[in-house]
Amino acid sequence: MSIMLKSQAEIAKMRASGILLRQVHDAIAPHVVPGASTMDLERIAVAKIAELGAKAAFKGYHGYPAALCTSINQEVVHGIPSEKRVLQEGDVLSIDCGCILDGYYSDAAVTYAVGKISPRHQQLLEVTQASLEAAIEQAQVGNRLGDISHAVQSVCEAQGFGVVRDFVGHGIGRAMHEDPQVPNFGPAGKGPRLKAGMVLAIEPMINAGGPEVRVLPDGWTAVTVDGSYSAHFEHTVAITREGPLVLTR
Ligand code: MF3
Ligand code: CO
Repeated sequence: MSIMLKSQAEIAKMRASGILLRQVHDAIAPHVVPGASTMDLERIAVAKIAELGAKAAFKGYHGYPAALCTSINQEVVHGIPSEKRVLQEGDVLSIDCGCILDGYYSDAAVTYAVGKISPRHQQLLEVTQASLEAAIEQAQVGNRLGDISHAVQSVCEAQGFGVVRDFVGHGIGRAMHEDPQVPNFGPAGKGPRLKAGMVLAIEPMINAGGPEVRVLPDGWTAVTVDGSYSAHFEHTVAITREGPLVLTR
């Protein structure tokens, strides 16, 4: 395993990519309402990415057909936008998007409540987001990778939620997926030492029920085995001597 370290100039480019990606998410957010289809959201993303002069990172990746992953309710990640998937009040929708600007990737996901959702699902969203923030707090020079993983796991399992094992976060840079893998589970104090210049996509995928997932026959959509709803939040984060720098905020 070789973890690539980025120079300050490279991190500046990744920051530009991350800010652009945040603008894409911000353009989509107001359209996450009952009656919108996930293809409506895909079109907004594609138009915004083009307007800002970037490239969609996911489209064509191992044959993936879209700029967004749109995963509804029991779908965990990698849901494919479709005209036929129309949002309803009470749904939870994860939107994952990646951009390439000047050769550098950014990757970020948000899970939205569509209208009013159940209190337990509201808690699922809040706890998953809080676990990402706890993980970011651990992205410090001198800590170990396991400190990030353990932060997510402890925050989510304390509330009875299931931490997905089959998908993990990742290093990111001139490729979407670089070393190291960033699991959302595991012991603190283990794994590679974190160094200035590492850039990680940290992405808790958390289920209201058990952690098990399976992939649907479309070859992409991952769903919970028990049918429980799932949440996903992701930021691209640079480790610097001044502390964690969230590139996609
Ligand atoms: N954000 C996802 C990841 O980190 C990327 C989606 S996979 C794709 O792996 F195929 F949709 F690109
Ligand atoms: Co990612």
